[in-house]
Amino acid sequence: MSKATDLMAWIDERIPLTNTWDKHVGKYYAPKNFNFWYYFGSLALLVLVLQIVTGIFLTMNYKADGELAFKSVEYIMRDVNWGWLIRYMHSTGASMFFVVVYLHMMRGIMYGSYKKPRELLWIFGMLIYLVLMAEAFMGYLLPWGQMSFWGAQVIISLFGAIPWVGDAITLWLRGDYVVADATLNRFFALHVIAMPLILIGLVFVHIVALHEVGSNNPDGVDIKKKKGADGIPLDGIPFHPYYSVKDLVGVVVFLIIFFAIVFFAPEMGGYFLEHANYIPADPLKTPEHIAPVWYFTPFYAILRAMPDKLLGVMAMFAAIAVLFFLPWLDRNPVRSIRYRSLAYKVILIAFVVAFIVLGYFGMQPVTPAGTWISRICSLIYFGFFVALWFISKNEKTKPVPERVTY
Ligand code: HEM
Repeated sequence: MSKATDLMAWIDERIPLTNTWDKHVGKYYAPKNFNFWYYFGSLALLVLVLQIVTGIFLTMNYKADGELAFKSVEYIMRDVNWGWLIRYMHSTGASMFFVVVYLHMMRGIMYGSYKKPRELLWIFGMLIYLVLMAEAFMGYLLPWGQMSFWGAQVIISLFGAIPWVGDAITLWLRGDYVVADATLNRFFALHVIAMPLILIGLVFVHIVALHEVGSNNPDGVDIKKKKGADGIPLDGIPFHPYYSVKDLVGVVVFLIIFFAIVFFAPEMGGYFLEHANYIPADPLKTPEHIAPVWYFTPFYAILRAMPDKLLGVMAMFAAIAVLFFLPWLDRNPVRSIRYRSLAYKVILIAFVVAFIVLGYFGMQPVTPAGTWISRICSLIYFGFFVALWFISKNEKTKPVPERVTY
């Protein structure tokens, strides 16, 4: 035996290294028909790692102090060696995280990956999405620019709409009567350690759940139903090397796009880094137009579309909460959109269009026309789930093939 195999044997007697590798990588059989949409899980993992690594380096020079925070970010950008690169990678990474996660969720919806037996996998995904939104919201306060300050002010004050306890909750969240140093300090603590820890934990159980039930695929066919004499699914191929190599292609393409943004358009015309955030936070001067970053704007538009603040807050949270129930709202056992009815395709397209239109109007200043369009799109958004419940029950679906199509 070679020295390397000796060492592996020594390790395997103490921890199940080879076993774990085989179970989750080398002999993890994934459906052979993965397509473009299956890149985004591994890309989400990549961005998570990028955010943590760049975040660690930012923390080395950032000062979580109302007096120093803005200046420390400028210092990172101008004076710290490669500081601009680290910061732009982190800010671009935040937006790209949501691009990747939204596409990842879209895949889950299109191929019915939330259906039995993957309900918990979906729930863990939704919890990841929630924590990710909290993480991004808190991170955005840290540069202590005008938009950081007033964005946090607006969002935290929303909790004030809750009857009886609203004011007490906002005070408790901010730690002061307005967004202040205390708020900055706690958001920093939550952003750099608490939320990332929870996120890593959730991603771990997300993958444990995935590997317990196995991956779905664009046909929505259960590959475990057709196994060869060796017990291996006939339509399964080992994750490594087949999908490790495929995912690597995704990583290369992603990094080309990612660094093109970092180097040539890090602010992305104000969509990734808002212009008003280059002005230090000023509690005495409200910016003319306060809008959250693009990934929150669909929900922000739903909030503003409601004529009443409490109703708006409820609708906004309901818009996120309803996604958790997707596995039970969709009553049709056919998973993939490929074999579903025209009615289903129509409502799904309407839902996606409404979400994008809401995202657009959430970024714009309030206008009567914008408010009305947002109202209609909010109706379509919620209407999708209602229609799904009814349509999915007796839907005329196409026959699902026995094996994956390839
Ligand atoms: C940090 C964020 C996330 C990471 C790192 C992550 C990671 C992954 C990975 C590596 C896979 C397997 C590869 C693939 O199918 O693309 C996967 C599958 C899946 N994820 Fe995520 N995920 C994240 C967020 C989410 C969210 C927000 C949802 C939905 C709410 C979600 C739902 C799913 C579902 C349903 C599958 C199974 C898909 C299938 O087999 O067809 N994930 N995830």
